[in-house]
Formats: sequence, structure tokens, C-alpha cells
Amino acid sequence: MAIQRPKGTQDLLPGTIEQWHYLEETIRRVCRDYGYEEIRTPIFEATELFQRGVGQTTDIVKKEMYTFLDKGDRSMTLRPEGTASVCRAYVEDKLYGQPLPVKLYYQGPMFRYERPQSGRFRQFHQFGVEVLGADQPLVDAEVICLVWDLYQRLGLSGLEVHLNSVGCPTCRAAHREQLHKFLEERKSELCQDCQERYERNPLRILDCKNPHCQAVTEGAPTTLDTLCDGCRSHFDNVLSLLSGAGVSYKVNPRLVRGLDYYTKTAFEVMVEEIGAQSAICGGGRYDGLVEEIGGPATPGIGFAMGLERVLAALQVQGKFPEAKPKLFAMLVALGDKAQNEGFALMNALRGKGIPVQMDLLGRSLKAQMKAADREGAEFALILGEEELERQVLLLRDLTSGEQTEVPLPKAIEVVYSKYQRGV
Ligand code: HAM
Repeated sequence: MAIQRPKGTQDLLPGTIEQWHYLEETIRRVCRDYGYEEIRTPIFEATELFQRGVGQTTDIVKKEMYTFLDKGDRSMTLRPEGTASVCRAYVEDKLYGQPLPVKLYYQGPMFRYERPQSGRFRQFHQFGVEVLGADQPLVDAEVICLVWDLYQRLGLSGLEVHLNSVGCPTCRAAHREQLHKFLEERKSELCQDCQERYERNPLRILDCKNPHCQAVTEGAPTTLDTLCDGCRSHFDNVLSLLSGAGVSYKVNPRLVRGLDYYTKTAFEVMVEEIGAQSAICGGGRYDGLVEEIGGPATPGIGFAMGLERVLAALQVQGKFPEAKPKLFAMLVALGDKAQNEGFALMNALRGKGIPVQMDLLGRSLKAQMKAADREGAEFALILGEEELERQVLLLRDLTSGEQTEVPLPKAIEVVYSKYQRGV
């Protein structure tokens, strides 16, 4: 039996890869405009990085990591997300020595052993941004504006930005106490996972998808109820900056992210049209993470978006720009001699940066002309034995059907000038 790709992975084939390029290029442009620089970290890291960074009690660490022992018996993990790696690089490569804040972005594959379904993969791609070394509400607002701006440039509509503040360790302790009190008598009604969360990470109970747990936690105190003065004023500031920048958002006090490192601002962006997996972006502030993984105390904030989900939204909303034909000319050669001459001519034209192709299967004139049409070529450059004898090249404009003869020694010059006129 033929070997199949692993469950939850995809082959990104020609035909759709152009949509990926379009999205990736738009992302690069936005990042450049906002002064973010690219970072590329390894696809696998020491398992401990994610255990300490993402958190031992999270679903990601408990159930979803691709972890293996390498040949030196070291535990390694395919990265399930990018933030912990970027913070590790910040410490290891001493990026804190640069002028602050350090503003970075990344794009690439992430791996989570989840139950595959529409919009949820085991290998998926994220575009993410991390800003390290700045604790001002201005930074929170800037990264959310970047997300908003990217979606505007892509032409997406119907987006909902959900915002919350999960507070700092001080107000979190107060919230934990209140939540414990609230749930004390109803604890036994919670699902098994939530009963475990009750001791180790009760905040996550508010995020449980089990309808029964949702009913039990209705009316439970939220982190917004217990924010300390500092966190409250930080959050109010972020909201007013976003309003001033024209970003529409919803404050959602039940928004709890699935990773443990968040402090203060947490946010998600949803698009209902793409189905159950509607979160296309998630992020927030993580002021304790760099220290947690052994670096100097450093505030941080960022987000990541699932590119498969952004592409799904673009598809549903029909927002892809029309693909431009990639080919300028098809070299149509007939006979061995003309083929040799034609091959040399094609290479000379390619050397000048002109997209030219020729038939590689020894097909008939008719089949070659058909291929030229199919590929969207503007010109066919026709060279048969007879043309070769007369040292001419036939230049057929495939739009108008007009055909001219060009002396072979002048062919490169003539085709080049036509190409330049079209560019
Ligand atoms: P996350 O919410 O786990 O956050 O993932 C961010 C986004 O990645 C999600 O909103 C979703 O669009 C996409 N995503 C996650 N899992 C899958 C999957 N299995 N299949 C397809 N798409 C998926 C983080 O990863 C944090 N590192 C974000 C962050 C950066 N926070 C601060 N800085």
C-alpha cells in the first residue's frame, strides 16, 4: 500500500501555495512597516523549555506535545508554539543588549497532537510577534493594532477582537481565592480535568468547553473583578488607545488563554464564518516568562495566528487577489537542431530575468502552442528547421494573434524590450 502523510498534516501544493505566498508577503510588509524584525528558531527544543514556559498543567504540555528522546537520550519536543523559543533566544543570544524594546516576528510550522478536524491540524503554521522589554500599555495597543491592520490589508471582515485582563500574580492570588470560594461546594459537579485544575490552575476552569462546567461556573468571579489598581489602569489605558486607533473590540471577562504564561492583557480574534475553530489569532502579555526560563526579569507581549485559519477566512470571503500569469514567453521549437538553438536562446532570455519556458517532452507544434496558452504566456517564440535555416524567430502575440519575424541575432534584444514594456 502506498505510504500516506501523517494524520493532521497537509501537502501544500502548487495552485494553493500562491495563496500562502500572498499571505506571507503581506505579513512581511506589515511587520516591516511596524519595525518588527524576523527571527527563526529551531523546530525542536529541549522539552523542559515548554514544560517551564507553556506550563505543566496546560493541555499543550500534558497531552499535545510531540516529544522524543534523541540518540543522546535527551528529551526533545517539536515546538508546539513560538513564544517560549523566542524568549529562550532572547536570553541565550543576549538580545537584551540591544536597544529596547526588541520587536520580533516569526512564521513557521508548529506541532500539536490534537484531534484533527476542520481548521485544526497536528502540523499547522503560525505567524507570531513578540515584543520584549517594554511594559507600557502602548505596546499592548501596538501589537493589537498590527493584527487589526493586517486583517484590514487582507480585506477580511466580520472579525471580533475579544479582550480581557488576567491580572498579575498579586491580583491573580485574590482571584484564585474568590474562585475557590465560589466553586468549593460545586467542585464535585465539575469534569475530571476541572477537578484537577481546581487545585493547580483554577482560572482554566472558566475556559472549559464542557457545557456542564460552563453551567457550574456561570456567575463565577472573573479576573476583571479582582484587578489591582496597576492592572486596572493598564487595562483601561489599552482600551482607550485601541478606541482612539479605531479598533473595535469586545471586553470578554471569560477569555482565558490556554497557556500559563499570561499576565494582564489577553486577547483573541474570532471569525465565525470558518466554523468551530474560529480563533484566528491569540495572544497577550507575559511579564514573567523570560524570568521563568532563566533570564533577567523582562516584560513581554505578543500574539500568534494560525495561517491555515486566516487562509480559510480569506477563501470563505473570496478575498484573494487574482493570480497573475507567471510566464512571459513559451519557446516553441521543432526538430533537434531548433531545439538545441531554442534551449540556448531560452537560457539567454532567462539570464536577463525573463520568465520563459519550453516543452520538455518533445511534443508536437499543436501541443506546444496549447501549453503556451494554458500557462498564460503572452508570446510564443517559434523556431522550426525552416526558421533556423533563414536565421529568424517567429514572434507570435498570443493575445492579438499577430505574428512578426525577428532576425535571430536580434531576438534577445527584441524580446527583452517587449518584456520591459509590459513590466
Ligand atoms: P495559541 O492560542 O495556542 O497561542 O495559538 C495561536 C493561534 O494558532 C490560534 O488562535 C489558532 O489560530 C492557531 N492554532 C493553534 N492550534 C492550532 C491547530 N492545532 N491547528 C491550526 N491552528 C492552530 C499561542 O500559540 C501563543 N504562543 C500566542 C502568543 C504569542 N502569545 C504571546 N505571544
